[in-house]
This record gives sequence, structure tokens and C-alpha cells, in this order.
Amino acid sequence: MSPLGAAVLLGVLVALAAAEPTEYFREEFRDGGIQTSQDARFYALSARFEPFSNRGKTLVLQFTVKHEQNIDCGGGYVKLFPAALEQADMHGDSEYNIMFGPDICGPGTKKVHVIFNYKGKNVLINKDIRCKDDEFTHLYTLIVRPDNTYEVKIDNSRVESGGLEDDWDFLPPKKIKDPAAKKPDDWDERAKIDDPEDSKPEDWDKPEHIPDPDAKKPEDWDEEMDGEWEPPVIQNPEYKGEWRPRQIDNPDYKGKWVHPEIENPEYQPDPDLYAYDSFGVLGLDLWQVKSGTIFDNFLLTDDEKLAEEVGNETWGATKEAERKMKEQQDEEQRRQQDEEDKKRKEEEDDDGDEEGDEDEEDEDDGGDKDDEAGAALKDEL
Ligand SMILES: *[C@@H]1O[C@H](CO)[C@@H](O)[C@H](O)[C@H]1NC(C)=O
Repeated sequence: MSPLGAAVLLGVLVALAAAEPTEYFREEFRDGGIQTSQDARFYALSARFEPFSNRGKTLVLQFTVKHEQNIDCGGGYVKLFPAALEQADMHGDSEYNIMFGPDICGPGTKKVHVIFNYKGKNVLINKDIRCKDDEFTHLYTLIVRPDNTYEVKIDNSRVESGGLEDDWDFLPPKKIKDPAAKKPDDWDERAKIDDPEDSKPEDWDKPEHIPDPDAKKPEDWDEEMDGEWEPPVIQNPEYKGEWRPRQIDNPDYKGKWVHPEIENPEYQPDPDLYAYDSFGVLGLDLWQVKSGTIFDNFLLTDDEKLAEEVGNETWGATKEAERKMKEQQDEEQRRQQDEEDKKRKEEEDDDGDEEGDEDEEDEDDGGDKDDEAGAALKDEL
């Protein structure tokens, strides 16, 4: 966990207990985080802090997530709970105020959740915010302001922003269709009509199929034996299909009827959409199919600039080194793989030279297993 020193906010800095250092920073940065360790598990971990309300203040929630395991399915979000939460009893249905952060499951779900509890209901953002799905550490920041605007940042860059009322369905719509209005019966919505002047030509109707005029009764046709000869039927070239009158502009066309709207009597503006009376617990309440995600650098503050600074000092300070180290690791892995491939190829070539030497044992790993498998096979035979 990176030292944040005096970086405190509504007086609150949340730091969950540091666990194992991350793979990349064990030595270099003495950095660590909380890492999920077993596949297909629910995780629940929370930390309590001095309760506060964000009324009249900006709220910034920030943390880093690193899907070191090349995740295919798992949550990477945090929840902010009211102080009343019983930590020991925290579970998926525990009522929270805000849920924020990345969630990945297959290629279909790669999004940043921003969910607010409003009057007991969880309300999801109407916009799609894509999360990062690589193996690097990323900084996730949610800013909620007392003017009911918000901002979501990833790696200290804005990825979404706007008004709470616009981007969540907290409130019923401002306008609704006027229930008293109704399309007049004589409202003509047909742009084109049949031309009343047009009529079907006398010679229009022709059969679709006719006997082939070129067909001839075969010489050896025997009426007694073969029955009466009939020529084969062909498509009539003069057949014109079903007649349809010409289309003309409808002189009575009034355009598409638009249902008039009225102010929704159910709509009540709420200037306090952003406000919660009590925040008291930060929690990780997650399901992970593939574990290995590292959470770190949790920060709650009322100071946007401070959060950005802290982001720079934590995620910002390590991102380059992290990339380099990953490149080195990948390079090292490639090198090892190449070496193994080469060795295997050499061995195969040797085997080729000593053809007929069937007793030769594979001395590499898996030799025992092969023996077992061989024994089992023999038993079966
Ligand atoms: C954070 O880092 C970025 C990029 O170096 C810089 O532009 C920005 O001013 C920094 N923010 C703060 C608050 O220090």
C-alpha cells in the first residue's frame, strides 16, 4: 500500500489492510494491495471509518484495480455503505449508498458500474462506460458534486460526466404524453394514396402460364396408349402480374401525428440527489470466477485536486515501471519458451537417430505420470 501521509479529506482516508505485495512491485516499490486468491469465490472485506455526510460537499471515491490474472470474469468494484452496516454481515444484498468500479464477464460485460441507492432502490447509470481489461494497474475515480453533477475518471482522465438527473433514472420524467390528447379520427397519416384517376387497362389480365406454342406432339405419340397429348406449360411473356394503381401525393396528408406532452404531475425535482446522510464503511463485496485482482490506494476525499495528486503519486508513479517490468517478464517468458522448444527439438532429433530404442524413458517432467498412465493402460488391456 502506498503511503498517503496526511492526504485526508472529509477527514477520511481509507486503507484496507495490506496483503501480499503485487507480483511486479515486491522489490522495487515495496508496494502491495489486497489480492483475491481463489477462483470462483465470493469475497467480502470492509473497513470502517469516521462517519460523515457528503451534504454540501464534493465526494471523491478513488482506488486502483489491477487484473493481474488476465481476468475473464470478476468484479473489481467497491461499495460505500452507511455507517449502520454490520460489517460481519456484509453480503450482496446489504444496502449500500454507492457502488463504483469495473466489472468484467466475458466479452459482453466490460463496464464501469456507477450505482446510487435512491430512496431504497439501486439506480444504474444510463450510459455505458467501458472499463480497462488489461493486466495493468488502473486508477478509478468517481466525483459527485453538490450541484448534482458527476465525473468518472480512469487513469486521471475523464471518461464520462454530466448531470445526475440526466444520466440516472432517479426521478420520473419531467414530461409525459398528455393522456387527454388523442389522434383525431380524421387525421390522415398517409403520405401517398392510390390515384383515383388511374384504372386497370382492358388488356391487363393475361394468364400467368400458357401452353408452349413451340411444342409439338411427338411423332410416336399413341393417343390410345398415352392418352390425349397436351403441350407443356410455360411462363406467359405477356403476363403483367397484379395491377396496382399509380401512387400520388395525398392532398389530405397531415404528417405524422405527434402526441402532445404535458408537465408530469408526478415529477418533483430533487436538489439533493447527490446527498447521503451517512457514509461509514467501504467494502469489497465481489464474485470472482478468475481470481488475482489487486485492489489498492483507496481514497475518500472532498477535494478533487487532492485525489488527482494522490492518483499521480500512486498509479502515476508506478505505471511506467509496471509496463517495463511486464515487458521484461514477457520477454523472459518468451526466452524460456524458446529454449524449451529448442531443447525439445534437439531431443526429438536424437530420438530420430536412435530409432528402435523403444525403452528410452522421458526423463523430463511428467515421466511418472506417463508411467502411471502406461500401467493403467496395460491393466485395461
Ligand atoms: C497529474 O499528472 C498529470 C500528468 O503528469 C499532470 O498534467 C497533472 O497536472 C497532475 N495533477 C496534479 C493535481 O498534480
